[in-house]
Amino acid sequence: MIIAVDGPAASGKGTIAKALGRHYGLPVLDTGLLYRAVGLAVLKAGGDPDIESDALAACSFGDETLADPALRSEAVGSLASRVSVHQAVRDALVRRQRDFATQPGGAILDGRDIGTVIAPDAHAKLFVTASVHVRAQRRYQDALSHGGHPDMDSLIADIQARDTRDMSRDHAPLKVADGADLLDTSDLSIDAAVRQAIALVDAQLEGRSRG
Ligand code: CDP
Repeated sequence: MIIAVDGPAASGKGTIAKALGRHYGLPVLDTGLLYRAVGLAVLKAGGDPDIESDALAACSFGDETLADPALRSEAVGSLASRVSVHQAVRDALVRRQRDFATQPGGAILDGRDIGTVIAPDAHAKLFVTASVHVRAQRRYQDALSHGGHPDMDSLIADIQARDTRDMSRDHAPLKVADGADLLDTSDLSIDAAVRQAIALVDAQLEGRSRG
């Protein structure tokens, strides 16, 4: 069984994907980390993330890169968004994601194009979203709890820039996949969002089994 969880930055999709993984006993891949790894590798190599060949050269990172805490920063998130517009970069990362998705027993993947491109035949699909303000607030709290000094205005601007770039790019833009259920987490606690996610997935799986 494959479950696809897509949505914009800080929508809660990662938290929901992990909780679904625990609930259904499935492994979870945060596909954003792959794009973040490319973004960080371009930076380290002194390349330009907006030049396709520079970004492509950064795609052959090792698995150990995925554990690098530097991947989590907002700056690397923006670099990820910039390298992810290139078709060659997306192609270079497809196999890794499809191999994970099709492993025996099933898997959950979260990202931007899981239900549309990576696993369009997924057994269940969610599109997790939340208002820009709520998402910026979450990033703000996150940064505070990690000892940072976040600035709300720049967090809002960053999220809006990322949304615009992710939704308007030519290749695999962020959009609601055919058959996906929308889950708006703006006014939901984590527990409530997870409960709703499980209910939506269960309903989709039941609908499929009834044919
Ligand atoms: O955690 P957050 O939602 O902030 O970002 P992420 O999921 O780690 O993704 C970082 C960036 O990678 C996104 O802004 C997208 O541009 C890109 N990405 C993508 O294009 N396709 C995916 N399947 C996952 C991420």
